[in-house]
Amino acid sequence: MPRPSPSSPPSVDPVRLTPRRVREIGSRLLEWYDREKRDLPWRRTSDPYAILVSEFMLQQTQVATAIPYYTRFLKEFPTVQALASAPEQEVLRLWAGLGYYSRARNLRATANRIVEAHGGKVPDSVAELLFLPGVGSYMAGAVASIAHGIVAAAVDGNVIRVLSRLFRLKKDPSGPRVRRELEDLDMALVPRDRPGDFNQAMMELGARVCAPAAPDCPACPLRTVCEAAREGNPTDYPFKPRRAETVEVEESCAMVRRGERYLVTQRPGQTGRYRSMWEFPHIEVAKGGKTARRAKQTLGTYLADQFGIEVRVEEEWAEIRHQVTHHKIRKRVFRCSVGEGEGRAENDEPKVEETPVRWLTLEEIAALPLAAPQKRILELLKDAESFFGG
Ligand code: ADE
Ligand code: SF4
Repeated sequence: MPRPSPSSPPSVDPVRLTPRRVREIGSRLLEWYDREKRDLPWRRTSDPYAILVSEFMLQQTQVATAIPYYTRFLKEFPTVQALASAPEQEVLRLWAGLGYYSRARNLRATANRIVEAHGGKVPDSVAELLFLPGVGSYMAGAVASIAHGIVAAAVDGNVIRVLSRLFRLKKDPSGPRVRRELEDLDMALVPRDRPGDFNQAMMELGARVCAPAAPDCPACPLRTVCEAAREGNPTDYPFKPRRAETVEVEESCAMVRRGERYLVTQRPGQTGRYRSMWEFPHIEVAKGGKTARRAKQTLGTYLADQFGIEVRVEEEWAEIRHQVTHHKIRKRVFRCSVGEGEGRAENDEPKVEETPVRWLTLEEIAALPLAAPQKRILELLKDAESFFGG
C-alpha cells in the first residue's frame, strides 16, 4: 500500500475499507471480546432501563468507579417507573460522589419522559432516543445497540481513538463534521448480527488495550489490520492540529478630538471579524526598535493618507491589551491634536471612499456597534473627558 511521505499535508484520507477488511475487523474484535470481556453488572442484564442507567453513569465515569453506584442505584430504583416518581433529592443523593450531577437530573427527566411518552418502554430507535434529555448521539447509539440490538454507531472518546489509529485518520476529531464521519465509518464496521457487543468491544479495546499514551499493540486483536500499528506510530493518532503560535501585535490607535467630537471610522462590511463595526482609527505598526517614535509616525501618516486629516500625534495616554484567537494585541492609544479650523467639515465624505469617517460625541459613539477593545477605549475616554481639558 502506498504511503504518503511524512511531509505530505494531512488533508485527504481515503479510508481503505473493503468488505474483507470490514469482516476481519468485526470478527477479530468479537473473538477477542468473547474471550476477554469483563464481567460487568450491566452486561448480565437485558433490561433496557438498566442499560440506560449504566450508560448515563459511564458517560464521564470509569467502569470501576461506576459499578457500586450502579448496583445501589438499581436496588433503589429497579424500574423506570420507580425512578420517574422518585424525588430529585433522592436521586441526587444516590449519585453523590459521581459528579456531573446534570447527568442524574437528565436521567430522572428521561425516566419521566419514558413513562409519559413511551408507555414505560425505553425507545428502540436512535431517533427517538435522541429526543430524551441528556441523550446525545453516542448514548442513543449505545442504548439502541446494547439494549435493543439495533445496528447503530456508538462513538465515544475510546472509539474515536481506536478508529483514528486503525485508519490513520489525519483529521481533528474534535469538531462535529469529523465526528459524523467517524460515526459513518463506525456504522460501516458494526456487524449486523452483534451491534451491541461490537460497540462494547470497541469501547473496551480503547479502555484496556488501545490506551491513549501506551497502546499495547502486540496484545491487540486488531494489530494485523491496524494501519497505525503497521506504521509504528499509533500515538500520532487521533490527529491533533498544531496549535498556532501566539503572535504579538502592536497597534497604534488615534484619539483625535475636535471640540466635543471624536474621529471614528467604520470597518469594511464584507469580510473580517469586526466587519461594519466602528472604531477609533488604528493601524498595526512594526515591532521592535524605537517603537514609540515609529508608532507615532506610522499613525500620523495613516491618518493623512486614509482620511486626509493632518494631525500632530502627541503623547501616549492609554494602553489596551487584548487577545484575538492567537494574536496578542497591544494597542497604544495616542492623543492627537488637530486645529479647530483644520481637517475637514463635520462628517465630510472621506478621502478614501471605502472608509467612512464621522466626528461624533462620546454619547453618539456609545450607540454604535463597537468591538470589545474599542468599548474599553470609549470607557477610558468617558472617565477622562477632562484629560483634554473638556
Ligand atoms: N463505557 C460506556 N459504555 C460501556 C459499556 N457498556 N461497557 C464498558 N464500558 C462502557
Ligand atoms: Fe490500537 Fe495498536 Fe490495536 Fe492499532 S494495533 S488498534 S494502535 S492497540
